[in-house]
Amino acid sequence: MQLTAEEKVMISGEKGPALRRAMEIIFALGNVYGAEETVPIKSAQISGISYKNLGEEGLDFLKKWASEGARVQVPAMMNPAGMDLRRWKEMGIPEEFAHRQLEVVETLAAMGVEPTLTCAPYLGKHRPSFGDHLAWSESSAVIFANSVIGARTNREGGPSALAAAIAGRTACYGFHTDSGRKPVSLVEVYAPLRNEADFGALGYLVGKKLKDRTPYLRFYVEISPSEPLLKAMGAAMAASGSISLFHAEGLTPEAETFSPEEIGEQSLVISSLEEAFRALSTPLERVDLIWIGCPHASSEELELIASLLEGRRLSTRLWVTTNREVVEKASKSVETIEEAGGLVLTDTCLVVAPVEFLGIKRVATNSAKAAFYLPSWAKVRVVFAPLEECILKYGGLQ
Ligand code: F3S
Repeated sequence: MQLTAEEKVMISGEKGPALRRAMEIIFALGNVYGAEETVPIKSAQISGISYKNLGEEGLDFLKKWASEGARVQVPAMMNPAGMDLRRWKEMGIPEEFAHRQLEVVETLAAMGVEPTLTCAPYLGKHRPSFGDHLAWSESSAVIFANSVIGARTNREGGPSALAAAIAGRTACYGFHTDSGRKPVSLVEVYAPLRNEADFGALGYLVGKKLKDRTPYLRFYVEISPSEPLLKAMGAAMAASGSISLFHAEGLTPEAETFSPEEIGEQSLVISSLEEAFRALSTPLERVDLIWIGCPHASSEELELIASLLEGRRLSTRLWVTTNREVVEKASKSVETIEEAGGLVLTDTCLVVAPVEFLGIKRVATNSAKAAFYLPSWAKVRVVFAPLEECILKYGGLQ
């Protein structure tokens, strides 16, 4: 990879060890993936910041970088942490974990990373624009930004996203290039898609079958897609496979630049979602927790939950995870949900929280991504069902 004069100065260490470390990471990745140059980025989003994932070693690594004088040069955001920073006691998080988690957030904040603590930064002021180059690392945010918005980002790791934020640039390869954005598999969808769980189930099947190959989706069924539905589908695709971009005919901004007839790979036909529901859902009579908000819920989703709970009382725990901007925007819905006994949490999610301390063994969720990860990451059993079913069947509403 060719470095500019400015980048050569950075990597020489003349501008300090923090910038040298950042440039070294970008240079190494660029060489591995065949980048010829770097590209300036508009923003970075850093995942892997839960103390559950980082541990002491990860925290030490961050502290060292911060002590070397690392400062971000572009807007940089944090992915969810292992707890709601303000309501961790209500969640049941142990004090020792909470103090370590706060230290992680403070260390990143000292480098200038904003404590947005969300996997859906596109729901608020950090929404990128078409064509923006980014260095984002949360897989569901990456696929949303690439596909629904038409921004350009690879699926960075936490350290490489932070390096990009510190250097203000990333290596230009993969989804930053026109050739890296071409669809390679045609997916023909005949299965009925009625709600977010169906879209998530579709995403799960596409990811499982295509692994990391970029799909071009053509729908032969009537759909009324909205951003929350595409968010649910993309998150599942990125979880069961490692897809970072999808094109959907008539729906996503770059789809019309490709002709599905020219896609070489034999098409994948999806006529039923049954395989996905069988793989993701366990029949359970009762659950310890209903979890909605993976990826973080939008204000429209909060409104829908509030409409189901208006004037009623839950007897099962309900967590709705979202970000602080959405909570402010949808304060009326938040009030209704909490009056019914639900908890609207920000900054966190069940997958990155230390579930082992929380007495949760059975969960109902409408997220295919959550249903995919929770059994292995959190050792819980999961019912995967549409939002209404999660709340009306498992909420024990009075
Ligand atoms: Fe977000 Fe956690 Fe799901 S980070 S996408 S809510 S697993």
